[in-house]
Amino acid sequence: MSPAATLASAALAEAAGAIRRAQRVLVLTGAGVSAESGIPTFRGQGGLWEGFRAEDLATPEAFQRDPARVWRWYRWRRAIYGGCEPNPAHAVIARMEPRFPEFLLATQNVDGLHRRAGSRRLIEIHGTIDVMRCSVCSERAPWPDDAVPDADPVPRCNHCGGAMRPHILWFGETYWPGVLEHCQRFAGEADVVLVAGTSATVWPPAALALHGKRSGAFLIDINPEPTPISEVADVHLRGSAGALLPALWDRCSRP
Ligand code: APR
Repeated sequence: MSPAATLASAALAEAAGAIRRAQRVLVLTGAGVSAESGIPTFRGQGGLWEGFRAEDLATPEAFQRDPARVWRWYRWRRAIYGGCEPNPAHAVIARMEPRFPEFLLATQNVDGLHRRAGSRRLIEIHGTIDVMRCSVCSERAPWPDDAVPDADPVPRCNHCGGAMRPHILWFGETYWPGVLEHCQRFAGEADVVLVAGTSATVWPPAALALHGKRSGAFLIDINPEPTPISEVADVHLRGSAGALLPALWDRCSRP
């Protein structure tokens, strides 16, 4: 076995050992876990931000300025998501859930793939593209059926007539009350924090991993690239979540 392969195998064994011993596991995911489902990540080659400025599409000001344009972009994203299926990374995370007395998945992703893979103990900290809400009265409703011909470019609230918007956290908006605090408390008492597929660019979610580490959790980062989290992780498994999560979970079930 090459030295690199030996190192990787040792890292996998160390991560698996920590997970086997854990009672309380926090999993934190980003766009990278959906990459192998065919959903572009945000940053890097071919990313969702490529050719777009987040400020023009994912901010309250952008919505105020041109709600129809914001809806077009999200409808385009949802059309991409609709043709995608959960991949083995989502499946393993869903399989992990019942195996621990305490388990929480905090995902930054809004594509709904974790839920479709069967995850239930999850918090979609940036919202979900399957729900829209009124920009005036906050009434929520399922995402409209885009297949409906001449769907209103900006759906209206059935309750107050206000403009509906995606139920997604935009840049410049504060996290919904209690969401980060709940995740922070969980991270502070976790035995293992398993991070997969995030560049740790957006700070509050990245801070969860570091808070867990500082509070004594074993920190694992799964990412083909180094990130601020991998630099302080106990183990950085370099590679794709779709391959490494099944390998890690398989290693956990072996003595
Ligand atoms: N497996 C694991 N990680 C992967 C894979 C893969 N197959 N492919 C790419 N990655 C990694 C990339 O190396 C990168 O570090 O996934 C990460 C994706 O980073 P981003 O595109 O920045 O996505 P994310 O970290 O989820 O962004 C956080 O920023 O734009 C906002 O609200 C948006 O939730 C998003 C947040």
